[in-house]
Parts: sequence; C-alpha cells; structure tokens
Amino acid sequence: MTSKMDSVGIIGIGYVGLVTATCLAELGNHVVCMDIDAEKIANLQQGQIPIYEPGLPELIQKNRERMTFTTTLPEVFSQCEIFFIAIDTPPTFTGDADLRSVFAVVSALPGLSNSHHILVMKSTVPVGTGLKIITKLARQKLDKIDYVSNPEFLREGSAIGDFLNPDRIVIGFRDQESGEKVAALYRKMKAPILKTNIPTAEMIKYASNAFLATKISFINEIANVCEEIGADVTVVAKGMGYDQRIGRHFLNAGIGFGGSCFPKDVTALKQIAGNSGYHFQLLTAVIEVNELQKRRVVNKLKKHLGSLSDKTIALLGLAFKPNTNDLREASSIVLASRLLGDGAYVKAYDPVALPDAARAVRGVLLCDDVLSAVEGSDAVVLVTEWEEFADLPLEKMKQIMRHHLIIDGRNFLDPEKVRAAGFTYEGIGR
Ligand code: UDX
Repeated sequence: MTSKMDSVGIIGIGYVGLVTATCLAELGNHVVCMDIDAEKIANLQQGQIPIYEPGLPELIQKNRERMTFTTTLPEVFSQCEIFFIAIDTPPTFTGDADLRSVFAVVSALPGLSNSHHILVMKSTVPVGTGLKIITKLARQKLDKIDYVSNPEFLREGSAIGDFLNPDRIVIGFRDQESGEKVAALYRKMKAPILKTNIPTAEMIKYASNAFLATKISFINEIANVCEEIGADVTVVAKGMGYDQRIGRHFLNAGIGFGGSCFPKDVTALKQIAGNSGYHFQLLTAVIEVNELQKRRVVNKLKKHLGSLSDKTIALLGLAFKPNTNDLREASSIVLASRLLGDGAYVKAYDPVALPDAARAVRGVLLCDDVLSAVEGSDAVVLVTEWEEFADLPLEKMKQIMRHHLIIDGRNFLDPEKVRAAGFTYEGIGR
C-alpha cells in the first residue's frame, strides 16, 4: 500500500504522457494518469490504447494495477507530490510553440493545501517558459509548487526502449531537493543524469532535435549532389559514419523528415532565436531543404513518365516513419497533394496508418494491401520503410502495373533485385 503522496501524476495522456506513465509504472511507481478527454480515459480504463506503439499495450497490461486513469486534477494532487505535464505544444501560425494548453493547466491548478508539489515539464516548451511558469505560479499564490524541466527524447516506434534505456536524462531545476527527487525516479537506469538550470535543460531538447534535423537535411543535400555526379549517398554516409566525430546515425537520405517533433521543434528554435533578435540562418536552410526534398520525387516521376496528368501513382507507406500510425507532417501528405495537384490519381497502402489516413490525405484511394495499391499504376513510390516492404512481391507487381517504375524514397530496397525483376529503379542519391 502506498502512502498518500507516493504516486506520480501525469497530466496529458497523449503519446509522450502515456509512454511516460507506463514506463514509470514499470519502474515500480504508482501513476495517476489525467486527461480532459473523458472518452480517452474511459477507453484506457477498459484497456483500449489510443495510439499505435509497439510493446505499449503489453506493458500497460503488465502494470495495470499501478495505473489509475482520471479526468480530474484534484485526484492527481491528493495522491502525487510529483506531477508531470505532457501536453501537446503544436506550432502556431508564426512557428512559435502553442503553450495555451500548458498555461490552461497551470491556471487550473487547484488551490492546494500546504503540501509541497513538483511540476515536472515533459512537454517541449520554448526556452524561458519554465521561468514564466514559476512567475505565474507565484502570482496564483502557488509558491509551494516547485518547477523542474525534464525533456523527453522518445522516438515514436521505439519509445519504450528509449524511455527505459535512454542515452541521457536531463533535469533542469532551481531547487536542488526537487531536482534530486525527480532524478530519483530514474535511479534504476544506467544513463548519465545531467543536472542543470531550467533554461539550459529546455535548450538541450531543442538543440538536440535541431541538430538531428540538420544531419538529415545535410545528407539529403549530399544525396542531391550525388545524383548529379554519379556517386552513391548510401556508401558516402557509411564512409562518413565510420568517423566517430560524425557517427553513423541519422545519415539516411530520403524524402525528408516529418513527425510531431522535428518540423515543429526546428521551426520553434528558429523562432525562439528570431524573437530574441538572432537570425538562425542554418535552421532556415534545414527547413527549406526538407520542404524541397519532399517534392523532388515529383520531378523524378516526371523524368520517367512525362506529364503526370491521368497517371496513377501508388504510394507505399503513409506514416512519417515505420512502426507508428502517426501522419503528422508526414512527407506522404505533401507528396500526395503535389501529385493530385499535377492531375495524377493517387493510390496508397500503409500497414498501420490507414484508419487515420482518410482525413490526412483526402483524394487518395486507400487500399488494403500492396497489390491492390499498385494495380494499374504507372509508378510506385516507397514513402515509408515498413519492414513489410523489404520483400515486395515484384513478380506479381510487374504483371499488374501499367509501367514498371519504382522510386525508392527511403533507399530501402535492393536496387539490383528490383532491376533484375524488370523494373526501372530510382533511389535518393544513389
Ligand atoms: C524525434 C527524436 O528522435 C526524439 O528524440 C524526439 O524527442 C522526438 O522527435 P521521432 O519524431 O519519433 O523522434 O522520429 P525519428 O526517428 O527521430 O525520425 C524523425 C524523422 O526523420 C522521420 O520522418 C524519419 O523518417 C526521418 N529520418 C530519420 C531521416 O529522414 N533520415 C534519418 O537518417 C533519420
């Protein structure tokens, strides 16, 4: 039996919130999960998981007894000294992070008793937000709530592994004791724990994501040059990756990065810099290269097929990356609308994201499997490197496609094998 304040609270049971809650339960904590979406909470109480994340349903099931789901904030405060905020901070039209939901939660914090609480920010918030929230708490006479920044570095599709075996844990605090209490939640982990002040912790998150996005845009530009000079970017990346100062990760050229973090965080960092009077030129280029990269496939198709008007293009994969149903900022959305804009018919198949795709890619004919998507098509574009696509039924595809063209947007297929099956193959930068 736990004592009154021994549980950990999570406010906002979206992707990050649910993974954080489940992993904290796995580490032995009792966790109170709060969200304003009553339907989501009711579903979770019934064991229905709102997102696709490998291993998550099983881990929730395993730790079910240590997880409580609620829609009311006071329930969190009566049981938890430490509570995390894990609320979405989507971009506004200016590119700044939208903090309205975060501030709404702070405004809604109940007038607490004299007990001490620690608000831990998991959401990605602009540098300076922590100090603003501390001021706001003081204005609300909630000085008994301390503030700690503890950014997440979870990749969709491998979020549980990332949480339980992280490269590092970053904790930003003003009050040493509060920082130590949050650090203690991670005591079973082997990772280094970096303790610092709040703005520095906030900046580590943005700088990390912006650097990874820069690596991707860099290798994509190298790929584009490779195409001009007859070099193979996959081998170039391998050769670069042996250099430990560069590292081999995040050097896969393709049709651009998407998802709920990189596009938003890179833009937000550019905006944070701009708001403080600094023009972050490098990030402007990173964003632009990424936008152009999504469109390059259209030119490749035109090179082989001429006008795309009345041509049928099959997209394999819609999710922004494999092992997720997330379509946010997915390259598939931009690509599909460019193709539709050029008068093409677009068919698509994704192993997991189809139910969510109907709204995201309007005008696209969604198909239940690879063969129905490619039937009658003039070209196939591999958009997401789902494992299922590693072994495409090339012989069958050849019989039912109108033209035999495959554009491999992720350099995922074996070019020799595809060519040997009688297809024209084009990757990115190879
Ligand atoms: C990212 C960060 O990795 C994570 O630490 C952060 O906190 C949240 O954002 P995620 O968005 O889940 O995670 O995906 P990630 O695996 O990082 O990939 C992001 C995008 O970059 C995907 O669209 C992916 O296809 C693309 N990518 C990645 C490349 O194009 N090339 C690469 O080499 C790597």
